[in-house]
Amino acid sequence: MLSLNSHPSGRHFLQIPGPSPVPDRILRAMSLPTIDHRGPEFGALGRKVLAGLQQVFKTRHPVVIYPASGTGAWEAALANTLSPGDAVLMVETGHFAALWAKMAGKLGLRPEVLVRPGTDAEFAHAAHWRHGVAADLVEQRLRDDAGRTIKAVCVVHNETSTGVTSDVAAVRRAIDAARHPALLMVDTISGLACADYRHDEWGVDVAVSGSQKGLMLPPGISFNALSPRALEASKSARLPRSFWGWDEMLEMNRDGYFPYTPSTNLLYGLSEALDMLLGEGLERVFARHQRWAAGVRAAVQAWGLPIQCADAALHSPVLTGVITPAGVDADALRRSIHQRFDLSLGTGLGKVRGRMFRIGHLGDSNDLTLLATLAGCEMGLKLAGVALAGSGVQAAMTHFAAQAASPVQPVAA
Ligand SMILES: Cc1ncc(COP(=O)(O)O)c(C=O)c1O
Repeated sequence: MLSLNSHPSGRHFLQIPGPSPVPDRILRAMSLPTIDHRGPEFGALGRKVLAGLQQVFKTRHPVVIYPASGTGAWEAALANTLSPGDAVLMVETGHFAALWAKMAGKLGLRPEVLVRPGTDAEFAHAAHWRHGVAADLVEQRLRDDAGRTIKAVCVVHNETSTGVTSDVAAVRRAIDAARHPALLMVDTISGLACADYRHDEWGVDVAVSGSQKGLMLPPGISFNALSPRALEASKSARLPRSFWGWDEMLEMNRDGYFPYTPSTNLLYGLSEALDMLLGEGLERVFARHQRWAAGVRAAVQAWGLPIQCADAALHSPVLTGVITPAGVDADALRRSIHQRFDLSLGTGLGKVRGRMFRIGHLGDSNDLTLLATLAGCEMGLKLAGVALAGSGVQAAMTHFAAQAASPVQPVAA
């Protein structure tokens, strides 16, 4: 017998914390014919997107674009600045921070993983995954590093696995307070263009980001934003690199070109995304993400379920992690919601697999798509037999109705 969802009609609800839904305007822009990436038209496209990205990262320094997912840009950040055996301080705030540390080890670096001591008995298996980067611990570790062997401090701005947004400026202050020369590297793969990010002001040396989150593009391109100190470090760094090398890239980028074949159609999409985001204004983009996040949190609180991020000051504007009650397998719940309501939610990753699910509220969304998402979650939770304290959908409606969206003028298509 055919299930009701054999031929689902309407749009699929892609509410994972990236890839996020791609606006029609961007899809249309990407459908243009591919052009010669060494021809006369391409340079203007390349120069435009590189300059636009500088605005989004809030930097005067170069940004590099790779035809790769975010993992590639992680590798590029390390490979361009460090040498075999270098110690790197990696702060484990969640699954992605842990993966980046693992990569550092595979590349021949010496990752030292800093873990905040846990005090959360109920969530002892991953207590430190409920908090952000502890800048005081970073400062102490750097002060103790008398021989200045640590060459970089690596942190994740928005931990997509947990929904915690760390205070990057505080990490920079910690490094400066310890008078330590380590580079500051920041993964803002899911933070950029959703959460406030200020590359130059926060003194970040290398930022890593990707296309499939706040930039509202399909996966496939990723970025490094650089600093003069990172560029200086790259001159003496000895980790092998070829594809990832900044030098040839920056040389070609001067005229808007690339040393190898770029993802031309994704760059069309990027050009459109930059028009949309910069046309709207980044501060407004951040404000609507904060507003959505607060509405989703109001819903989770009304259900009576704990939020993965235990620090109210660090709730992510990008996603909310919801801890399921003991005995409720979060992945079984996600599967049933997907099957019955054609709604995709983020899985619990690594240490929190099966214990939580993630609601993405980023990019091309609005109050009603989020209410529908919450309705799907609420129905799914009830069907799974979870006794909810109240209606999250009602709480979110109350929030959204009271906190009217600012009169954002749609950017002309
Ligand atoms: C914070 C963070 N870092 C790194 C990655 C890895 O990026 P990718 O899957 O694009 O290679 C992701 C992917 O979701 C992420 O969210």
